[in-house]
Amino acid sequence: MRIIAVANQKGGCGKTTTAINLSSCLALKGKKVLLVDFDPQSHATMGLNIECDPKKNIYHVLAPTQSDAVGLDDVIVPVKENFDIAPSDTLLCAMEQELALVDGREKRLLEAIECLEKSYDFIIIDCPPSIGHLSFNALRASSEAIIPIDMSLFSLRGIAKLTDMMVMIENASGHVITPRALVTMFDARTRYSQEVLERVREKFEDKVFNTVIRYNIRLRETVDHGLPVGDYDKHAIGQKDYEALSEEVMGGLQKDTAVEIKASSGAEEVLRTTREYFDTMKPVPMSDIDLESETEDVESFPYPAQSNYSAMINTIACGTLANQSDESEEPDN
Ligand SMILES: Nc1ncnc2c1ncn2[C@@H]1O[C@H](COP(=O)(O)OP(=O)(O)OP(=O)(O)O)[C@@H](O)[C@H]1O
Ligand SMILES: [Mg+2]
Repeated sequence: MRIIAVANQKGGCGKTTTAINLSSCLALKGKKVLLVDFDPQSHATMGLNIECDPKKNIYHVLAPTQSDAVGLDDVIVPVKENFDIAPSDTLLCAMEQELALVDGREKRLLEAIECLEKSYDFIIIDCPPSIGHLSFNALRASSEAIIPIDMSLFSLRGIAKLTDMMVMIENASGHVITPRALVTMFDARTRYSQEVLERVREKFEDKVFNTVIRYNIRLRETVDHGLPVGDYDKHAIGQKDYEALSEEVMGGLQKDTAVEIKASSGAEEVLRTTREYFDTMKPVPMSDIDLESETEDVESFPYPAQSNYSAMINTIACGTLANQSDESEEPDN
C-alpha cells in the first residue's frame, strides 16, 4: 500500500483537484484507492458530491474525545468502482485544538490506517492549506508527498515550508517522506510560464513530475457536478493530464509500508533546491540594496533557521514545548 499526502500550505494551488482526479485515474486503472479528505473545508467530499454523516466522519476517527472508538473502516463511503472516500466536515477544524495536549497526537492518522481492515493499493490524503496537527498527521502517515505548485512565489514558499517540516519529522522520528513537486494550472500559451517551467525542471530535476497539469476549465466545472473530470468529459485535457500523472505515480516509488526508514528521503535536497531557486529569482543582490530605504520592498526568503513554524513543528514532533503547541499558521492564500 502506498500512502501519498497531497500537500502545500499555499491555498488554491490544486491539491484537492489533484487528490480527486489522481484517485479517480488510479481507480480507472484497476487500483484500489481510498481518498482521505483531511481538510475541514471538505472540498474533496463536496467535489465528489458525497453526503458526509455529521456523526461519523474523519473527525470521529481522530478525535481524542470520542468515547466510542470509530475506525477508518466505519466512515468510508464508496465513490465508484475501486474508489472510496473518508469524508470530512467542518468539525475537523476542532482537531487542531483537541490534539494539542494529547500524547501520540502526531500518529493518530497513521494508527487509524494501520488498523484498516479493507485493503487498498493507494491512500491519497488531501491536506488543508495550513501547517498544524492535521498536516503533520498526514505527513507522519505518508511515505510520499505530492506538492502541487501553481508557479507562484507563494506556492514555491509552500514547498520550502513543507520540505522543512519533512526534514524535521525525519530528524525527530526517523520517518522518511519522499516529496515530488507537481506543476498545476500551467498556461502553455505564455512565454513566462514556459520559462518558469524550464527553470523549475532544471532545478528540481527528478523531484518534479514530468507530467504538467495544464490550466483546463473543465477541472473547474466538474466540481459543480460532483464528479472527477474523466467521468464528466473523458476527452478533457484535465483528464489526459491526470491520466499521465497516474501512470507516472504508478511507475514511481514502490513502498510497502507507511513507516520506512532509510538513509535520505530527498526532502532535504528539495528544500536546498527551493532555497537555491529563490536565490536565482532575486533580481538584485542584497549587497546592492540600500537596506535603509528599501527594506519594505525587498521580498526576502523566509528561511532563517528560527521560523515560528519550526518551533511549532518541534512541539508537535517531540512534545518538548507542550504548552506552546496550539500555535498554528494561517495559509498563504
Ligand atoms: N488545472 C486547473 N485548471 C483550471 N482550474 C483549476 C485547475 N486546478 C485547479 N483548478 C481550480 O482552482 C481552484 C483551486 O483548486 P483546488 O481546490 O484544487 O486547490 P486547493 O489547493 O485544494 O485549495 P485549498 O488550499 O483551498 O484546499 C478550484 O476552483 C479548482 O477548480
Ligand atoms: Mg483543497
